[in-house]
Amino acid sequence: MDRIKNPFSPGAGSPPPELAGRDEILEQAKVLLGRVIRKRPEKSILLTGLRGVGKTVLLNEIERLARKADYHTILVEAHENKELSLLLAPHLRSLLFDLDRVAGAGDKVRRGKAVLKSFIGSVRVSVGDIEFGLDIEPELGTADSGDLEIDLPNLFVAVAEAAEERRSAVAILIDEIQYLKKSELSALIMAMHKMQQRQLPLVLIGAGLPILPGMAGESKSYAERLFSFPDIGPLTESQSFSALQDPVKASGEEFENDALKEIFNMTKGYPYFLQEWGYQSWNHAAASPISLLIVKDTTDFVKSRLDSNFFRVRFDRLTPLEKNFLRAMAQLGSGPYRSSDVADALGKKMSSLGPMRSQLINKGMIYSPAHGEMAFTVPLFDEFMRRSIPEFQP
Ligand SMILES: Nc1ncnc2c1ncn2[C@@H]1O[C@H](COP(=O)(O)OP(=O)(O)O)[C@@H](O)[C@H]1O
Ligand SMILES: [Mg+2]
Repeated sequence: MDRIKNPFSPGAGSPPPELAGRDEILEQAKVLLGRVIRKRPEKSILLTGLRGVGKTVLLNEIERLARKADYHTILVEAHENKELSLLLAPHLRSLLFDLDRVAGAGDKVRRGKAVLKSFIGSVRVSVGDIEFGLDIEPELGTADSGDLEIDLPNLFVAVAEAAEERRSAVAILIDEIQYLKKSELSALIMAMHKMQQRQLPLVLIGAGLPILPGMAGESKSYAERLFSFPDIGPLTESQSFSALQDPVKASGEEFENDALKEIFNMTKGYPYFLQEWGYQSWNHAAASPISLLIVKDTTDFVKSRLDSNFFRVRFDRLTPLEKNFLRAMAQLGSGPYRSSDVADALGKKMSSLGPMRSQLINKGMIYSPAHGEMAFTVPLFDEFMRRSIPEFQP
């Protein structure tokens, strides 16, 4: 079949031809956006789920909805080694300049710039590499204490007031939230707390691996009141069928029903895998309809492709000891795994597992779905580990 017309789009953040099964969450986002710009309180949203389930795609879609609802938006991706303030500051700067161009009287935009300048001044002390050209005197004493939990809320207030004055609102979207430091997360929580108290039009929408279980004490109870944590999971069978069949039909071709069932069985409904199987099956088929036989013939090839990219990029960042640890987990099935079982498999004491466990959490390889438990962040990673490493060393 014509490869140029292949509708599927496997790849990180690539918009799928059919955004299947996400109507509810998009509706929730619309309600949030609609309420906050009208100064009605609503919980912000942190989308959480495994890799490849479609969080980034959703975040991009929500940004589009926000723009359509007259929001000014900022979308950033958190990194292991980059500070949140440095990530946000340049975007807040452009946002304030954009607001300045919107008609409206008042001096809140000016003040926003002054507060941002004092914020940057205090950040720069510790980092020292960005020049901003905010042609304004800093508002000394605001957002420049150097303590992010104090400064970020004050900065958000100034920015949100500027947006409010221009009859707009602000949506801050942050991908890969699991890479934020504890202090950064709690600063964001404090900031959103302030937004809610003052009914200011600023929403936060995040996406990343599940973080709630890892959050401590007070932060956690705050977070539960201010955010909802919708779980972005695999698609159901019928949603997977539409993810595959709808785009193919739109191109004037078709999957046989058995073929769809086979792909669902292989992928368990995980969106990234659906795209990959759909894409390769299309390319392997000589003509429509795409049959069960074609899908079966494609499977080994798809697996080897997944092994050499989706799984491999993560695997290659691991040390031999980390690989062995993960291989021991994989030995126990598909997870989640109790820490004590992994310790037993490795012949180690539970208490000695701690450092390796947090190392792997920091690398985004595993997360803790509940106290005392671990799980892989990549779906079907256990099968990959068993395929790639025959045995582990106890
Ligand atoms: N609802 C969906 N239906 C079909 N395919 C999807 C859906 N959501 C995401 N995808 C596909 O899954 C892949 C991974 O999406 P991505 O947003 O990068 O996942 P994540 O950010 O959770 O790792 C992409 O190829 C994308 O096209
Ligand atoms: Mg992503």
